[in-house]
Amino acid sequence: MEQSFRNVYDDRQRARAYAQLDFPGTYHLAFRDLPTLFRKYVQGTRALDFGCYTGRSTRFLQRLGFATVGVDISPAMLDLARTTDPRGDYRLVTAATLAKIEQTFDLILAAFTFDNIPTDAAKVEALRSLRQLLAPGGSLIVVVSTPAIYLHEWASFSTRDFPENRRARDGDPVRIIMLDLPDRRPVEDVVCSDAHYRELFAHTDLIVRELANPLATGAEPVKWVSETCIAPWSVYVLGAA
Ligand SMILES: C[S@@+](CC[C@H](N)C(=O)[O-])C[C@H]1O[C@@H](n2cnc3c(N)ncnc32)[C@H](O)[C@@H]1O
Repeated sequence: MEQSFRNVYDDRQRARAYAQLDFPGTYHLAFRDLPTLFRKYVQGTRALDFGCYTGRSTRFLQRLGFATVGVDISPAMLDLARTTDPRGDYRLVTAATLAKIEQTFDLILAAFTFDNIPTDAAKVEALRSLRQLLAPGGSLIVVVSTPAIYLHEWASFSTRDFPENRRARDGDPVRIIMLDLPDRRPVEDVVCSDAHYRELFAHTDLIVRELANPLATGAEPVKWVSETCIAPWSVYVLGAA
């Protein structure tokens, strides 16, 4: 199953629309608590945005004062990131070249990137490289979708057309529609449970310092669907063991 996976984000039409997205609806919860976690765990201002796509998460880090390098495997997406942010530092990487970046970072953010890395072997390779790029005491913050996101309805996502998501196990593809974009073609991700992420982190000598599963309070000006009682995102704060 894993072999049929393709990087659905590597698509210009979707990317142009995504490039205009800020942090609407359900996305707000993925980013809401990051500044607090950064204050708690990150000393220093050198940051790497792993899987920067069109640069939204890179610009988020820049606005918080981090000198940020955005990296991605998609040249077309990096072009879009540079168009929006001509002064930003965006670099093309491959699985093989990632660890060769000649810098270390106080903070590495991977926002939704691991949802799109298809195999355990590729996840492990990426985690090993990212661990190498951490400065002493640095933090790797991995934001991923919980398996629950693929089973429920949300302010920003729909999964009701994909009942087969219920049968998906670690490493299987799952589909979800992004409601904040006019492009309603489903996005294909790879599901990965908390238990499985923890195995992969342990395997790569990364320790979990904190796991946050942000919920909406109900006070936000958003018509929440499941977000006040089911967590759509997991935010892992990791460090080198
Ligand atoms: C969901 S998008 C990331 C969104 C972005 N971080 C944000 O918050 O807006 C996932 C990105 O990860 C990139 N990606 C997937 N595998 C990667 C890898 N091994 N190394 C670097 N980037 C990768 C894809 O090309 C895609 O741009």
